[in-house]
Amino acid sequence: MNTLELTINGKVYAFTQGETILDVARRNDIFIPTLCYLKNASPTGACRMCVVEVKGARSLVASCTAPAGAGMDVQTESKSVVKSRKMNLELLLSSGSHDCLLCPSTGDCRLQDLAFRYNATGKRFERTKPKYQPDFSNPFLIRDFSKCILCGRCVQACKEVQVNNAIDYGYRGSDAKIIAKCDLPLGDSDCVFCGECLQVCPVGALSLKKARQKPRVCETEVVRTTCAYCGVGCQMNLHVKDNVVQMVNGVDAIPNHGSLCVKGRFGMQFINSDERLKTPLIRKNGELVAAEWGEALSLIAEKLGEYKEKNGADSIGVLASARCTNEENYLFQKFARAVIGTNNVDHCARY
Ligand code: FES
Repeated sequence: MNTLELTINGKVYAFTQGETILDVARRNDIFIPTLCYLKNASPTGACRMCVVEVKGARSLVASCTAPAGAGMDVQTESKSVVKSRKMNLELLLSSGSHDCLLCPSTGDCRLQDLAFRYNATGKRFERTKPKYQPDFSNPFLIRDFSKCILCGRCVQACKEVQVNNAIDYGYRGSDAKIIAKCDLPLGDSDCVFCGECLQVCPVGALSLKKARQKPRVCETEVVRTTCAYCGVGCQMNLHVKDNVVQMVNGVDAIPNHGSLCVKGRFGMQFINSDERLKTPLIRKNGELVAAEWGEALSLIAEKLGEYKEKNGADSIGVLASARCTNEENYLFQKFARAVIGTNNVDHCARY
């Protein structure tokens, strides 16, 4: 079989049928900027940031949608490519209010990064005034339309990744905005608060509700961990500052590939809650009293032994939890069968 090859910036690279120019470039660590491109969703070609120069082509080509072709000669940072990207950035910066000083996404904004890289100031074109007021109706996030660049990543994430179809493009031309269910506030729409849109927003248009009171993402330390809400094992990055989790993002790895549910993404307040149980509690004289683990485990062993002695092993049942890992649940049934001697094992997820 003949190997398919194309040239990028003077170097030859192999590719397989169906890959785009962007796929080949990314696989070989060649930088091509993107704003609207979302992995695992169909490319929309909306932002034109990923344009490259292909020898013989009549115009610049959007690399996120253009299939790689055998013998193609591609330049990713030619003069005309850089000029086009800079103009696109200038246009984006002139529409709405991209005030980085007060934006919670400063330091974690792709538009800001690219403006810096391509020296785009936003002064070239006349600024258009924001048309829409921010939407605070969602309990977790704010939609600030004045910072939206209409890249459509949130729509793609909602439609194609989470398959919720809660948001879409609405209106036309300079009136265009991302709307939820006939332009209702997000809180009154079909949104299920998964927060996938928040994670993929490349600018500050979608931010956590308390983002202005919190440290910015760029000030936090990233800690990779496994979500503890159920046994699926979703991989997440905790953004931590002062020992407090400020924000959670999904990691693009098995099994969740970047997605999280509403609990995993937004339910992190319990970690530092004053009401959180940190020790076992034993009821003494009708009151729950904090105890050492050794004391609690001895009491459980003693009581189980007593019941077994008195009523037989089948008088005891074991109820496992979906919050535990498969391994923990396996051990739990093993404990029931091999230690207590009963097959009375069930799992909260079953009912
Ligand atoms: Fe290719 Fe937006 S990333 S057009």
